[in-house]
Amino acid sequence: MSLRLGDIAPNFKAKTTAGDIDFYDYLGNSWGVLFSHPADFTPVCTTELGKTAFLNNEFAKRNVKVLAVSVDPLDKHIGWVKDINETQNVEVNFPIIADEDRTVANLYGMIHPNASETFTVRSLFVIGPDKKVKLTITYPASTGRNFYEVLRVIDSLQLTANFSVSTPADWKPTEDVIIAPSISNEDAAIKFPKGVKIVKPYLRYTPQPNL
Ligand code: BEZ
Repeated sequence: MSLRLGDIAPNFKAKTTAGDIDFYDYLGNSWGVLFSHPADFTPVCTTELGKTAFLNNEFAKRNVKVLAVSVDPLDKHIGWVKDINETQNVEVNFPIIADEDRTVANLYGMIHPNASETFTVRSLFVIGPDKKVKLTITYPASTGRNFYEVLRVIDSLQLTANFSVSTPADWKPTEDVIIAPSISNEDAAIKFPKGVKIVKPYLRYTPQPNL
């Protein structure tokens, strides 16, 4: 059974480019992004890890710890990191798990046998400080992920965890958000003093409340 939203993200111990880790200890009270790629020394994966390293300050600003995984061995990861740094003009500054025995891949359902019997697909999990799965995405080997979209979803997750709002299609930080239908108009006026725009009884907007 694959992991679903709201499930507890399983803990594991693993060998990584930053030494041995216990996943929960690594995360501490932070949010986490755990993402798999099919194989080292492959082009799309090289750009994905490069982009993640480039955005690492953005993840850190949001209190998110990043962790990559593939089933290749540690020595291969270490050699490949040099190539990523060189070609993507970055410093890979997050651990990459060497999941040779597929412990992590199996726990998180990262191998999709009808896509590949041996390699992990491009799975990505956002995990909250409560260790619950908040987002899952799965891309095929041929398509690199959009890590700005991952940041955008994290912004929405962190906002909606703290306020009774949700975010509309294509929302970007600073744009108006949607008031939860469970809040009455009277309570909305108190909770959202920046203003309430009623388009329909079930569709009400307010400026982003934490700005
Ligand atoms: C890539 O990263 O380019 C890639 C990896 C595995 C299969 C296909 C493409």
